[in-house]
Amino acid sequence: MKDAAFELLKPELDKAPESSLWIADENLLNQLSRVNHNVHVITNRYDLMQQLQQAGWNTVFSDFDFSEIADHSINRIVYRVSKEKPVVHHVINQAIRILKPGGELCIAGLKNEGIKTYLDKAKKLFAGQIELVKSDKNTWMGILQSPGEADTELLEDQRYAELREVAADEHYGYQSKPGVYGWNKIDRGSAYLAEELPRFLDSMTTTPDSILDLGCGYGYLSLQCATLLPNTRITATDNNAGAIRACQANFVQAGIQGEVIADNCAEEISEKYPMVICNPPFHQGFSTDGDLTDRFIASAHRHLQPEGIAAFVTNLHIPLERKAARWFKKIDIVADNGNFKLIRLAQPK
Ligand SMILES: C[S@@+](CC[C@H](N)C(=O)[O-])C[C@H]1O[C@@H](n2cnc3c(N)ncnc32)[C@H](O)[C@@H]1O
Repeated sequence: MKDAAFELLKPELDKAPESSLWIADENLLNQLSRVNHNVHVITNRYDLMQQLQQAGWNTVFSDFDFSEIADHSINRIVYRVSKEKPVVHHVINQAIRILKPGGELCIAGLKNEGIKTYLDKAKKLFAGQIELVKSDKNTWMGILQSPGEADTELLEDQRYAELREVAADEHYGYQSKPGVYGWNKIDRGSAYLAEELPRFLDSMTTTPDSILDLGCGYGYLSLQCATLLPNTRITATDNNAGAIRACQANFVQAGIQGEVIADNCAEEISEKYPMVICNPPFHQGFSTDGDLTDRFIASAHRHLQPEGIAAFVTNLHIPLERKAARWFKKIDIVADNGNFKLIRLAQPK
């Protein structure tokens, strides 16, 4: 389905001059546009990087880290707003630093994503001129010209680039940052899975010598596994650049033996594991994406040894058992707490 906000930006992307940047977040997956070799793309999603590279775009995967880009060196930035406010504020703040005086920030989004507030804030920061375009009453684009330096305070980005401790338990402190899924807390579903991990381990004939943490976020479940199984090697993987950064930092700080790999549903990981743990996402961009749950189940199937088990946690309303029936012979709801259920998948078909 076409994204109305991106449709407004497309002509700006098409005619972008040399030294232009396209900042692409998850909501642009499958929103392809004609390649413009004047434009470098920065995306924080691995799947989007794959898709754009394949289409011929010059694309870098990073946690929207602009630190290597010189001050006032960019002619145009094209940005369809992200889901989270600190990310949007970070991009607008960085735009004023890296745009040449007179360089343009083209920014678009929907009303219910707060685009009008973002445009007001950006207008203040950019000291005045804004060209506004509307495709319908819900979809807005602003084109702002950079004055060179901001003469008002930068937008509150909750120190976007900085990792910091966001939670702790008796074993570890957990580092995370804005832009990572549920960045400033321990996910309640994951906490439930962690609490019940011994139940899953007791059902196995041998202690797993390796575990795959599928969609690892900042690595909470990996660290929980390491608490119980200090000699088990852990591979953690995620699609999001910020999550990879945070998880790597947590692995180093906790002295975890294992690796953290950026990937799309572990597609490029060929190893099979005796255990997979997973709290799958069910939101992609602004829409609910059942398909992603299916892809996580299929990935667990592909990465499981014949005798292995996958431990999943989901909200009660997600029909994970039904979806898993295509891939696994043995499916058990191990427990539920009224909000979340724990599901054990075994005997991959
Ligand atoms: C519900 S969160 C769980 C995070 C973490 N395991 C925890 O317990 O806090 C789901 C995770 O899946 C990641 N994700 C989303 N799409 C993905 C994909 N295509 N491939 C890999 N990971 C993905 C998200 O970035 C997010 O970190």
